[in-house]
Amino acid sequence: MLRDGALAGKWALVTGAARGIGRRIAEVLAARGAGIVVADVMDEAESTAAEIGNEYGVNVLGYKVNVTDGEAVKGLFDELKGKCDGGVDILVNNAGITRDNLLIRMDETDWDAVLGVNLKGAYLCTRQAVRPMIKKRSGRIVNIASIIGMMGNAGQANYAASKGGLIAFSKSVAKEVGPRGVNVNAVAPGYIRTAMTDALSEEVREQMLLLVPVGRFGEVDDVAGAVSFLCGPESSYITGQVIRVCGGMLM
Ligand SMILES: NC(=O)c1ccc[n+]([C@@H]2O[C@H](COP(=O)([O-])OP(=O)(O)OC[C@H]3O[C@@H](n4cnc5c(N)ncnc54)[C@H](O)[C@@H]3O)[C@@H](O)[C@H]2O)c1
Repeated sequence: MLRDGALAGKWALVTGAARGIGRRIAEVLAARGAGIVVADVMDEAESTAAEIGNEYGVNVLGYKVNVTDGEAVKGLFDELKGKCDGGVDILVNNAGITRDNLLIRMDETDWDAVLGVNLKGAYLCTRQAVRPMIKKRSGRIVNIASIIGMMGNAGQANYAASKGGLIAFSKSVAKEVGPRGVNVNAVAPGYIRTAMTDALSEEVREQMLLLVPVGRFGEVDDVAGAVSFLCGPESSYITGQVIRVCGGMLM
C-alpha cells in the first residue's frame, strides 16, 4: 500500500465503501493522504468512515445514502461543497448489486434494481461531482465496472448490461470533461475474493479458477491498487480507458 502523500489536500468520495472492494479503495486512497467520504446505503457508512480516519489519520465523513435517489444524492453533494473545499476531487462509483437469473425468469424488478444502482447511481453521482471538478480544473472519476460488462455471462444479463453501460458512460464523460482537467476511467475486475465468492462451493470455485490464467481469485487489494493508480498524479495522461483486473481471464 502506497503511503506517498500524493493525495494530501484532496477529498475522495467512494460509493458503497462500507465493506468489500469499496472499503479497501477508501483505505488505499486514505493511505495516500486523501480525505475520505464514505457513502453507502448501509448503516455502517459512518462507523466505517470513523475507522478509516483512526487508522490512516485523515479527515473523514460518512453518509448513509442510496445512490439511486436523485434528491438524496444532490443533497449529499450540496453539503460536500461546504465541507470538502468546494467539492470532492475524486469520485469512485463502486456501489453495485447483482440480481442474477436467466433472462426468461428475470423480472422487471431485478432488471430495474441492478440498472438503478450500477448505472443510474453512477450517473447521478457523476453529474453532481463533476461540476466542482470542472471549476477546479482538476478531478478524477473511476467507475467500477466488471469484465462481465465486456464478455457477458449467462444469468447476468442485467448486470452485464449495467456494467457495459457504465463503460460506455465512462468513455462519453471522459470525452466531455477531458478538456476541463477531469479524467474518467473504468476498472473492470474479474472474480475478486469477497463474501460473495467465498460463499461458492469448492467445486464451482475450482471450475471458475480454470478460466483464470494466474490461477487464483483476485483480492480487494488488486482492484484498489488499480483505482489508486487512476487517482494519482502518475496517471494524468490516461482517460477513457478500462483497466481489467482479472488475472488474465479476459485478454
Ligand atoms: N466481487 C467481485 O468479484 C466483483 C467483480 C467485478 C466487479 N465487482 C464490482 O465491484 C463493486 C463492489 O463489489 P463488492 O464485491 O465489494 O460488493 P459488496 O456487496 O461487498 O459491496 C457493495 C457495496 O455497495 C453498497 N450499495 C449497494 N447498493 C447501494 C445503493 N443503492 N446506494 C449506496 N450503496 C449501495 C452496499 O451496501 C455495499 O457496501 C460492485 O460495483 C461490483 O459490481 C465486484
